[in-house]
Amino acid sequence: MSKKIVILASGNGSNAKAIMRHFDSSTKIEVSSIISNNRQAGVFEHAKRFGVPCLWMDKESFESDVVLNFLLTEEPDLIVLAGFLWKIPVSLVQTFPNKIINIHPALLPKYGGKGMYGAHVHRAVKESGDAHTGITIHYINEHYDEGGVIFQAQVGVETADTADSIAQKVHQLEHKHFPLIIEQLLTH
Ligand code: GRF
Repeated sequence: MSKKIVILASGNGSNAKAIMRHFDSSTKIEVSSIISNNRQAGVFEHAKRFGVPCLWMDKESFESDVVLNFLLTEEPDLIVLAGFLWKIPVSLVQTFPNKIINIHPALLPKYGGKGMYGAHVHRAVKESGDAHTGITIHYINEHYDEGGVIFQAQVGVETADTADSIAQKVHQLEHKHFPLIIEQLLTH
């Protein structure tokens, strides 16, 4: 039986797409469903193309037992947050210890915490004058961006870079590494 990944995503879903593409022809690992809190999320289009079932949820079902029960029935081997903006309820963290991972578009602990997502992160990196930024893949615990680090990769920031070009570089790094790290976690 193949290992199951459930992806939670709020936005464009380019990481979710990279993960679905990576495992599309795998016989050992499958993306079994996508859950989003945003009806307009680009991730739904990507999921349709890969034939992955999708679920939309509101905050109430996320914070009550509805999503928890769905996940208990689904029995995922890994829950992957790919651009997911809501805080994960403690009940989920406790029910799936070491099974929920997130990707953050910077080198944590730098540029993490509440409010540090998307363009906010890349703007802060640009303003800091840091010579490097990167990605962090980490476990989820009860606090934003503080779970154990699984993997980091870095990329240079040039003087000519803008927050947008930094975002592009970081996205490339994410698409390259995230599917591979997920594969490693599920096969070791
Ligand atoms: C990524 O940069 C990820 O690090 C962050 O949210 C962004 C999602 O991008 N958590 P996408 O929706 O996968 O394109």
